[in-house]
Amino acid sequence: MSLIKSIQARQILDSRGIPTVEALLTADDGYSAIASIPSGTSTGSHEAKELRDADPLVYQGSGVLKAVENINRILAPALIGKDPTRQTEIDQILIDLDGTADKNRLGANAILAASQGVCELGAAVTGYPTYKYLHLKYRLSERLDMPTPIFNVINGGKHGTGNLDFQEFHVIPATNKTYSQALECGEVIYQILGDVLAHRGAIRSVGVEGGYAPNLFTNTEALELIFESVRQSGFEFARDVFLGLDVAATSFYNGHSYAIRDKSQALSRSELLEFYREINDKFHLFGLEDPFAEDDLEGWKQITAAMARQTIIIGDDLLTTNKQRTKDAVDKQLCTGILVKPNQIGTISETIEVIKIALAAKWHIVVSHRSGETNDDFIADFAVGVNANHVKFGAPARGERVAKYNRLLQIEEELK
Ligand code: PGA
Ligand code: ZN
Repeated sequence: MSLIKSIQARQILDSRGIPTVEALLTADDGYSAIASIPSGTSTGSHEAKELRDADPLVYQGSGVLKAVENINRILAPALIGKDPTRQTEIDQILIDLDGTADKNRLGANAILAASQGVCELGAAVTGYPTYKYLHLKYRLSERLDMPTPIFNVINGGKHGTGNLDFQEFHVIPATNKTYSQALECGEVIYQILGDVLAHRGAIRSVGVEGGYAPNLFTNTEALELIFESVRQSGFEFARDVFLGLDVAATSFYNGHSYAIRDKSQALSRSELLEFYREINDKFHLFGLEDPFAEDDLEGWKQITAAMARQTIIIGDDLLTTNKQRTKDAVDKQLCTGILVKPNQIGTISETIEVIKIALAAKWHIVVSHRSGETNDDFIADFAVGVNANHVKFGAPARGERVAKYNRLLQIEEELK
């Protein structure tokens, strides 16, 4: 049996140039694993808390040296000598050492670096690729299938340049395509969209997830331009490829109404629902993520009752990969799909627990990156290992995004 020999953490930069945590783990028989932790820009308020130094002299307050020290001084000594395949036991130790409900003492970034690193090391010492290790360990499905990618081709909201309210505009290839066909489909449409935007004189810079961050008048216009790009690509809309949205509605909710540039006046809950119906009639959305604010549960209830037969209503900020919030949402029928992000909760075991609840409710599982990423490709293995229906790793461009999409190409070959 292999045992954890060392855990050494350091501060590195994520794709936004903001510090994040990385941990290197070794086993006594020579195996090693490295885990680099992502970070959100539009985080849900119910997420576990990442620890930042708030020292204005270090990276303008965004340093993670305390989290690094928590790993090196507190977490590492507790895990050294343990069997890295005992994930549940190890995660419980991490949870107990922190002792808070939202992991604010040691930091969810510190804790996940240890938890994810242990998962990778557990896979390494057993000789399996991480996706296979997770599949054998948790058996969340009979067999392993490749997930279908959701490409975020236009970045608005907190991810863009500030002139679109909706955060993400998605291109989603049909599920009957192989993964590599789906990747090509998304990439071709992404390239054409760049030309379509340039032709319109809309600025062609990109946002934090590699999608274009154009200058447009309305959110609807963004959908129209993607629709036009699909048409030019030769792929058939609503057969080969679908559109989707991550609205991230908390970001334009003032506690009473929702302000979007498509309408001259802020919309009430029912008016926003009516607007989604209009969009869906026109664009046949495959999925609609965070259509209402994270605590506007009445809005969620209404949209799921009204639209869940036509499109998947996906909870991200609503659920924050949190067991209790997910259970509540199942009971109250607030959505029909879940966005799964391990760093929203901070351990691999708790993430698996949440997926089990979602699977029991027959929800749609989407495993997701964060806007602040590194080249770590763990999340691709994780998605396959839990047999996610879809993955959301941003645009099919930029190194930290394609690291995940390319890892899926390797896995696809292995699964053939
Ligand atoms: P975030 O965005 O990583 O900035 O939270 C991703 C999302 O909202 O899906
Ligand atoms: Zn989201």
